[in-house]
Amino acid sequence: MSKGNDKDKVDPNRRAIVVGGAAAVAGIAAGIVIGGNVFPKLEKQTVTVKQPIVEKQTVTTTTPTPTVTQVQAYQKQKVANYNSLTVGSPVSVTYMGYPAYVVRTGKASIGGVGPNGDVVGYSAVCAHMGGPVQYDPNTNCGVCPYHYSQYDLTKDGIPVIGHPNQYLAMLVLEYDSSTGDIYALGFNRLVYGVYNNVGQASSSSSSS
Ligand code: FES
Repeated sequence: MSKGNDKDKVDPNRRAIVVGGAAAVAGIAAGIVIGGNVFPKLEKQTVTVKQPIVEKQTVTTTTPTPTVTQVQAYQKQKVANYNSLTVGSPVSVTYMGYPAYVVRTGKASIGGVGPNGDVVGYSAVCAHMGGPVQYDPNTNCGVCPYHYSQYDLTKDGIPVIGHPNQYLAMLVLEYDSSTGDIYALGFNRLVYGVYNNVGQASSSSSSS
């Protein structure tokens, strides 16, 4: 009797285990469902990025046509004849567009040509500020009336009085003993007012 009754009896501890297990299963199931809501699936998204349209551009370039003809070298130019020169009387010339003069100093001079080496030529533009240099036969100097500077024309055009800090530009001369002709071949220094004697020269020229 007691055994049969024992079978019918339910162990409260065992019942608690069964109930607890069922609750755990239900809880896991609920967690999955809840979890599914908490962490929604990431869906693929397609994003279309528009690329800017680059239009072709046509660039037209033109090569400028030089309109200035530059003289590329010193020219050989007749500037005087020895037989027509008198000591102390300068003759004015224009060499490659630059005003200048040729003179017989009466004594052998630096850069002088002719039988006595006394024919010299110089720029007529003062190296100080561009004044008109004039020859003084009493001193053999080129004299500028602007600020009274003087250049010794027997000594390479060195400034001997006044403001210039450089020599007067001298004409390089060539003498033809067969004819007496005297030619200018160029300047030995920069002429006042230009940065390139040849490049800024003009084509005009004259001789006495
Ligand atoms: S410009 Fe000739 S001395 Fe000044």
